[in-house]
Amino acid sequence: MAATLVLTHFNELFVPNDPGHPLRGKEMNKGTILKDAYVAFDGDKILAIGEGDVPKSLIDANTKVEERRGMVATPGLIDAHTHLVYGGSREHEFSKKLNGMSYLDILAEGGGILSTLKATRAASFETLYDKTHDLLEQMMIHGVTTVEAKSGYGLNWETEKRQLEVAKKLNEDLPIDLVSTFMAAHVIPPEYKENPDPLIDEIIKMLPKVKEEKLAEFVDVFCDAGVYTAAQSKRLLEAAKKEGFSLRIHADEIESIGGSAVAAELGATSAEHLMVITDEDIQKLADAHVIGNLLPGTTFSLMEDTYAPARKMLDAGMAITITTDSNPGSCPMANLQFIMQLGCLYLHMTPIEVFNAVTINAAYSVHRNETVGSLDQGKKADLTVFKAPNLDYLLYYFATNHAVEVYKNGKLIVKDRQLV
Ligand code: NIG
Ligand code: FE
Repeated sequence: MAATLVLTHFNELFVPNDPGHPLRGKEMNKGTILKDAYVAFDGDKILAIGEGDVPKSLIDANTKVEERRGMVATPGLIDAHTHLVYGGSREHEFSKKLNGMSYLDILAEGGGILSTLKATRAASFETLYDKTHDLLEQMMIHGVTTVEAKSGYGLNWETEKRQLEVAKKLNEDLPIDLVSTFMAAHVIPPEYKENPDPLIDEIIKMLPKVKEEKLAEFVDVFCDAGVYTAAQSKRLLEAAKKEGFSLRIHADEIESIGGSAVAAELGATSAEHLMVITDEDIQKLADAHVIGNLLPGTTFSLMEDTYAPARKMLDAGMAITITTDSNPGSCPMANLQFIMQLGCLYLHMTPIEVFNAVTINAAYSVHRNETVGSLDQGKKADLTVFKAPNLDYLLYYFATNHAVEVYKNGKLIVKDRQLV
């Protein structure tokens, strides 16, 4: 069959394996790097990849053939953990943070997530839509073609719903796929501090509505000191599982209070952060095949010393993804490439492990592995093209946007580093 478009002579092309499950442990350091490579699209799908001259069978009179010398490519990047839809911003807390006030101290005095809660409740659909539209454009320009987006700055149904509806509409309007997570259990407001149980009951009551209106596929909870306990998180996630949701959990970000064990016990798709996870809990996640979503940008931005122990996780056989955690507080940014570079510099992951983390493993983490995350024939023609002599260079030369072109469903959405 002839292709509609063939991009030829890439210096290197990263081709992840898709063995039918997320890559675990040593599997994460495997993948093929094709040299002098081509990628052929059949409209919105991948048709073929290979090295050297393009087979004649792929080209007919209607095939567009373009050279990409001096460039490298990967499957479209996937950001599997973001808090994308929110009102306001939090730079007014920056000097407090620089003066040594901790994330939880700022939250305890009514700032942090609680301040974004106020701003998000006050923001209209249009305001949230425009703001998130902007963020998604930044993400696309940096090579991202699929993104997970959590609610969690409303807490009340009206605002949570508005956040999820904004994500749903942007998924329809923009050439980037959004996967939604319902995360009303993101903070405990002062009025529930003494007893959060009635609040959990309220959130559990929202689950059927989220399901009915098809507003989210996943449910997440912030299980940490000063937020939800392991028992509270488990109660909520159990209810979500019964309702048919897949599960994620923010665990072991600040203190290790049992969130990872809950993830393993309930068969969560992923456990996120894991900066202070214990060796015992690493083994639990590995055994239960829970993906570890690691967010080194958050450790960096919170100016903490403790990065998630990625090497220990890999030694234990865990699957890992790396994500931005893009949010207004603990990681105000939207450049997944920088996070990938931190993956090498601070998580000590190899370039191949990092590329697998943001392609095939991230696809599994958001349940889109059937359609994206690798370059297997028939998957979506999502491709990120970087100006770089080789793939290692992308991760070595940091804090720079190397993405020059992005294809989503076979369509060019970024050209010369600008949105088309
Ligand atoms: O993943 N940890 C909880 N939630 C976010 C932070 C959100 C915020 O600070 O607004 C995170 O780090
Ligand atoms: Fe988060």
